[in-house]
Amino acid sequence: MKILIVGGGGREHAIAASAAKSKRVDKIYCAPGNAGIGQIAECVPIGAMEFDALAAFAKEHAVDFTIIGMDDPLAGGIVDVFEAQGLKVFGPRKNAAVLEGSKAFSKDLMKKYNIPTAAYETFDDPKAALEYLETARMPIVLKADGLALGKGVLICSTLEEAKAGVKEIMEDKKFGAAGSRMVVEEFMTGREVSVLSFVDGKTIKIMSSAQDHKRAEDGDKGLNTGGMGTFSPSPFYTPEVDEFCRKHIYQPTVDAMAAEGRPYVGVIFFGLMLTEDGPKVLEYNARFGDPEAQVVLPRMKNDIIDVMEACVDGRLDQIDLLFENNAAVCVVLASDGYPVSYEKGFAIDGLEAFDGSEEYFCFHAGTAQKDGQIVTNGGRVLGITAKGEDLKQARKKAYEATEWVKFENKYMRHDIGRAIEEAESR
Ligand code: AMP
Ligand code: GLY
Repeated sequence: MKILIVGGGGREHAIAASAAKSKRVDKIYCAPGNAGIGQIAECVPIGAMEFDALAAFAKEHAVDFTIIGMDDPLAGGIVDVFEAQGLKVFGPRKNAAVLEGSKAFSKDLMKKYNIPTAAYETFDDPKAALEYLETARMPIVLKADGLALGKGVLICSTLEEAKAGVKEIMEDKKFGAAGSRMVVEEFMTGREVSVLSFVDGKTIKIMSSAQDHKRAEDGDKGLNTGGMGTFSPSPFYTPEVDEFCRKHIYQPTVDAMAAEGRPYVGVIFFGLMLTEDGPKVLEYNARFGDPEAQVVLPRMKNDIIDVMEACVDGRLDQIDLLFENNAAVCVVLASDGYPVSYEKGFAIDGLEAFDGSEEYFCFHAGTAQKDGQIVTNGGRVLGITAKGEDLKQARKKAYEATEWVKFENKYMRHDIGRAIEEAESR
C-alpha cells in the first residue's frame, strides 16, 4: 500500500521509519518531509497546512492511508477535509483535536468529567486576569489558550512576573492569536511523565511511557523548548501509577470526548504530573510527542499501520499492543542559540554511521539537502536515539553516537536521563 505522512520533523521521521518496517507498505510519501525522511520516503514539497493540495496529491497518487504527524493541521481540520473526499486518514477530526488546540476546552472537559488536573480559571479579558492574580497564590502558571509551539506557558514566581506575563500573552500577543484567551493554573510539583496512546473513538491502548527534557540547558535551566531529549520507559511510571491513570484519566478522557459528541480517533498524548496527591493531567496533545515518538516507536513490536488502521476502523480492541522489554534514549542535537535565534545551513558529517543499524537511529528534525550535502535547517537538527538493555546502557550508547555526527554550532544537553539515577535513590 501507499502511505502519506504529513509533517517534517523528528517525530515524522520516527513514524516513517516505523511505517517502512511494515510489510504492507510499498511506498511512503512525506509532505514536506526533510533530508533524513527523504532517505526512506519520497518528499513532496507541499506544506502541512495546504489541505486541498495534500488531498489532491493523495488522490492523484492513489495513497491508501494518510498519517497526520503535526498539531497545526489537525487543529485546522485536515482530517475533516480528507474524510470529506473519501480518503482514509489517521488523526482526530477538528472537533476532537481541540483537546490540544484549546487549553480552556481541555480544562473545562477535565473539570466536567472529574479528571484530575490543576485548579484553574479562564480569562478573555486581561483586566479580569490581573484582578484575579492580586489574590492568587504564587507561583502560578499562565497558559495561552491556543497552539504556541509548546512555548505558550509561563511559570511565574511573583505577582510582578505574573502581571508581566498577562501583558505578554494577552496584550503584546507574544504567542499570537493563541493568547486572546488565557488559562491561569495552580502550580503543581512532582515528576513529569509523557504517556502516548492509540484511540479508536471508544478503546484506548497505552504505549510505553517516556520522559521529555523541555528546558534548553543542563540542570533543567534555560528556556522551554520543543524538547531536548527523551527516554523510555520512565522509572517513575509504576504499575500503581498506571492503574490509577487507566481508571481515572485515560478511559475517562476517551469516554468524555465521545459523550461530548467529539469521538477521538488518533493518538492522545497525556502530559502527566505525578504529584503528592496522585497523577494529574498537565496537558493533552492530539499527536505523538516530539521527541517522545523517537524513543517509543522504535520499541514498539506491532506493525504501526495495523494499529493505526484499527483506530480508524474502530477495532482497536482486537489489537494487542506490545513493546520490547528494553529502553531507549534520544539526545537532541540542536543549533546553538535554539530556541531563540540560530544560524542554519551548516554541512552535517558522519550520518552514514547509522545506516542499517537496528540499535542506533538518527532521526532528522531540521535538515535539508543543499548541493548534494545534508545541512542544518532548524533549531532542533537531529535526534540521536539508541536502544539498550536498560536505561543506563541506552543512554551510554546514545551519547556515544552523538559524537559520530559533526556540524558547526552543534549544541546538546549532557544530562538527558538525569532522572534515571534519581529513581534509583528513591
Ligand atoms: P504544557 O505545554 O501545558 O505541557 O506546559 C509546558 C511545561 O510547563 C510542562 O511540561 C510543565 O513543565 C510546565 N507546566 C505546565 N503546567 C504546569 C503546572 N500547572 N504546574 C507546574 N508546571 C507546569
Ligand atoms: N515533547 C513535547 C511535545 O511534543 O509536545
